[in-house]
Amino acid sequence: MELRTDPEEFRRACEEARAGGARVGLVPTMGALHEGHLTLIGEARKRAPFVAVTLFVNPTQFAPGEDFARYPRTLERDSAACEAAGASVLFAPEVSTMYPPGEETRVHPGATAAPLCGAHRPGHFEGVATVVTKLFALAGPCVAVFGRKDYQQLMVIRRLVRDLLLPVEVVGIPTVRESDGLALSSRNTYLSPEDRRRAAEIPHALAEAARAFEAGERRAGTLVARVRARLARISDRIDYIDVAEPESLRVLGAEEHAGERALLALALRVGTTRLIDNLVLGED
Ligand code: PAJ
Repeated sequence: MELRTDPEEFRRACEEARAGGARVGLVPTMGALHEGHLTLIGEARKRAPFVAVTLFVNPTQFAPGEDFARYPRTLERDSAACEAAGASVLFAPEVSTMYPPGEETRVHPGATAAPLCGAHRPGHFEGVATVVTKLFALAGPCVAVFGRKDYQQLMVIRRLVRDLLLPVEVVGIPTVRESDGLALSSRNTYLSPEDRRRAAEIPHALAEAARAFEAGERRAGTLVARVRARLARISDRIDYIDVAEPESLRVLGAEEHAGERALLALALRVGTTRLIDNLVLGED
């Protein structure tokens, strides 16, 4: 596996692979890699012989006061993990090359980025859309793999690709979880042992809503209330718990009824750590 920090060298590595006839698969990450990331790499390998992994803690998707500075940075371990997972190239650029001095252009997503996390992290999805566009432009991937753990991000990127006519197939893979159901996240390392135990309540709360949905409950307010009742015990700061249409991400009002499939998504703080999770009711 090659390690590249210079954007032009990374571009060249991907270009050479394409010139040799290989499909290029792309897996963008912010590092502190875990089994979820490695599953994305495995999926990319199934779809493309040349797999580019990117590792970049993207400053424009963090608001002031968020965890940009303390985000875990473990390049050596991540590089070994990428190599073992079969990546062809790892791109780990500096901020100054991805955002050269004087740069000012942003990719502004629309309504898909407005509700849920978008409402609580202003500018977040603009930062994501901007960096993903740059990574697509550098790698020229045929296929790019993202996790459904960040369901709204996946939808924003699908829209980005459609709206900007980008020739990239976007693949979403199911959330990879710990044995107790907690979704794997680089931010789980922030949790104290006590908070880690509390966080395990999240998948239980989602599972309860899924059972209610299976039993025929469709009223958004009732589904949300069941989840909220359980999670109020572990968090004093719930950003949101919402039922939304799974593609447009339009949030349903309390009196509205979910269709055959509905996204149940949440974000909350356990201790000082912000965690997100979701389930597509009627599907997952
Ligand atoms: P990061 O949080 O490192 O996640 C990188 C990719 O891994 C994303 O597609 C995310 O959805 C996926 N992922 C994370 N945890 C997962 C899990 N438990 N199961 C399945 N997939 C999981 O998301 C980002 O970085 C950034 O916003 C990025 C897209 C790289 C742009 O900066």
